[in-house]
Amino acid sequence: MSRSFYISTYGCQMNEYDSERIGAFFTAMGFSQADSPEDADYCLINTCSVREKPQHKVGSELGRLKQLRGKNPELKIGVCGCVAQQEGENLIKSFPQTDFVLGTDAVGRLQEAVSLVEKGEKVCFTEMDSGELTLPGFERETGPSAFVTIMKGCDNFCSYCIVPYVRGREKSRDVSEILDEISYLTDKGAREITLLGQNVNSYGKNLEEKIDFPQLLTKVSEIEGVKRLRFVTSHPKDFSHELVEAVKDIDVVCESLHLPLQAGSDSVLKRMNRKYTYGEYRDKVLAAKEQIPGLALSSDFIVGFPGETDEDFRRTIDSLEEIRYDTLFAFNYSVRPGTGAERFEDDVPLSVKKMRLAELLDVQRRISMENSTRFEGESVEVMVEGASKRDAKHFTGRNRQNRVVNFKSDRDLKPGDFVMVYIDEAKPNSLHGRVR
Ligand code: SAH
Ligand code: SF4
Ligand code: F3S
Repeated sequence: MSRSFYISTYGCQMNEYDSERIGAFFTAMGFSQADSPEDADYCLINTCSVREKPQHKVGSELGRLKQLRGKNPELKIGVCGCVAQQEGENLIKSFPQTDFVLGTDAVGRLQEAVSLVEKGEKVCFTEMDSGELTLPGFERETGPSAFVTIMKGCDNFCSYCIVPYVRGREKSRDVSEILDEISYLTDKGAREITLLGQNVNSYGKNLEEKIDFPQLLTKVSEIEGVKRLRFVTSHPKDFSHELVEAVKDIDVVCESLHLPLQAGSDSVLKRMNRKYTYGEYRDKVLAAKEQIPGLALSSDFIVGFPGETDEDFRRTIDSLEEIRYDTLFAFNYSVRPGTGAERFEDDVPLSVKKMRLAELLDVQRRISMENSTRFEGESVEVMVEGASKRDAKHFTGRNRQNRVVNFKSDRDLKPGDFVMVYIDEAKPNSLHGRVR
């Protein structure tokens, strides 16, 4: 019987993409994918350290795996991703059940790690590769939606953020590798491609080939089979007029932008090292809204950054009212070891952070609801993602603005099909309708 692996993935889409790559390496070594950790010979935790909470999960997961090892002494336990990069050997010291640690640049060394682990050795690969980024496309299964990493690392050093330390310097992947991988995926049935990078606007800077991100969008859009094209994340400081044009003019590029503002107050933005003022951000975003009909906007916010006053927080609330995002992700600030903001006192009490976060989410819920109603009585293009388990006539999918659409249809629809859905009812985070 072939051996099997199980990966649990935390954090952002980068990690989801890396988990797919790791899965492909395991498969190439003859492993099969297990349905649960209980059934696996190798369990791997792909970790995130962007905030305190996900980092704490690593300890509890490793505890669970230790218990499993009690039942299955042959079980091998690995940690990869951002906590692996950050903690390295410390992980093996603190959690001796760990057999191997793979840093964020060591995904390609899985095979080497496994062969050492098989010999009973402990493995820790956390060197950062300083060379060019080549990441050959890999064979994998795909649904109608697929992620493709176009660059790694980050050079922005926002003062709160650990990503530049755990993902290293910014590097773009070769155009030909990206295009090959996307062609492979569309041949296998992918219809919607999401390009990934911490700061996609600076795509191409380190490449010999002269290319920037809007030009890459054009090239990807020319691949037959790409019906929808999305990307995350754009840093507002580099958000350009050319990109607005690309979203407006390239048919398959969806009308939705994730442009994290983080805070509405200029003094907070300055201490965050975001390199834009609220006014600059607002002018760019409102201009984009005007030029791209139907544009959906989303954002990330941090509340309770060191020194954030009530007055600063009011500016954040005001920004929500002015920009009127469709969706947003908001987090309480937590100190990350080694970051610039570690030198600021984390002086906003947790109770205040919680109150601010609740208020922000409340305001946003109302705005999301108000924005959603614009779809009521309209027909929207939906890419089918699946049928309901309970009722074969109920389906779910997303519109171009990335809203979840739940709908009824008598037709026999398959994931990846496109249909026009008439929207009867809008809720803050989903739309409900039918195929007429
Ligand atoms: N590259 C993306 C963000 C990646 S991290 C960008 O530049 O926007 C995802 C989000 O986590 C960030 O946008 C930020 O809102 C949040 N975040 C990062 N570090 C944090 C910290 N120390 N505390 C709380 N939230 C944090
Ligand atoms: Fe972190 Fe800023 Fe880089 Fe985003 S741009 S990953 S928030 S340092
Ligand atoms: Fe987390 Fe690493 Fe992504 S810290 S958000 S998994 S880049």
